[in-house]
Amino acid sequence: MKDLSNIMLALDNFTKEELINKLTETKDDFKTIKIGLELFCKHGPQLINEIYDQFKHDIFLDLKLHDIPNTVRKSIKSLEGLPIKFLTIHLSGGEEMIKQAIEQARESLPGVKILGVSYLTSLSENDFDEIWAIKKVDIPKAFGQLFKLAMQTKIDGIVCSASELEIINDLEKGHCQNLIKVCPGIRFKDEIENGDIQDQNRVLDPKNAFMNGADYLVMGRSLTASKNM
Ligand code: C5P
Repeated sequence: MKDLSNIMLALDNFTKEELINKLTETKDDFKTIKIGLELFCKHGPQLINEIYDQFKHDIFLDLKLHDIPNTVRKSIKSLEGLPIKFLTIHLSGGEEMIKQAIEQARESLPGVKILGVSYLTSLSENDFDEIWAIKKVDIPKAFGQLFKLAMQTKIDGIVCSASELEIINDLEKGHCQNLIKVCPGIRFKDEIENGDIQDQNRVLDPKNAFMNGADYLVMGRSLTASKNM
């Protein structure tokens, strides 16, 4: 891959020291880095400030907030002033939660793009059935419902598997909306062919993900575990 400007580098599985080393090594390669629950739970907001001060990346804080509307709203208020560009909430928190999250973010984190997570890319067809009694044939409809909710609430963007972009592309036709489309669950073609996808399930390779309309790809282990990086 030549152009990495639309790749959000997911920094999981790192100690703080390893993280700083990785960012020092790759400083100019990636515009956006993603800090998830693992590092945030360990080091808190201080880490976000430190990274931003030292490296000036665009920071995607992937907290996937999912709670009652008031709790999500207050949690976002607690992030006030952090130098982040993207923040995730779960779309399945419902319309009121999404609206409260967006409203609070506009106040406390101006300029931050709120991204709604649809269904985790780690979930398999079996999980859809086991958790929600959604059969294989009804999975696209379930995505359609969440994407409609995303459009209704005028959230800035969505997080979904690149295989599901067709559903949102169809829904967007006829609406004057263009959500930012962020896709995790990315693996290189040979990794997919070899079944080297770890805990992910609904995966796609970078080329096809962009061809399907992804604006950004979230990539973690395929890059961070690579000896060439
Ligand atoms: O290492 P890998 O490329 O699988 O990392 C994917 C990253 O994207 C992880 O940080 C994970 O938390 C995040 N993510 C995801 N699926 C979603 C939303 C976020 O894998 N639906």
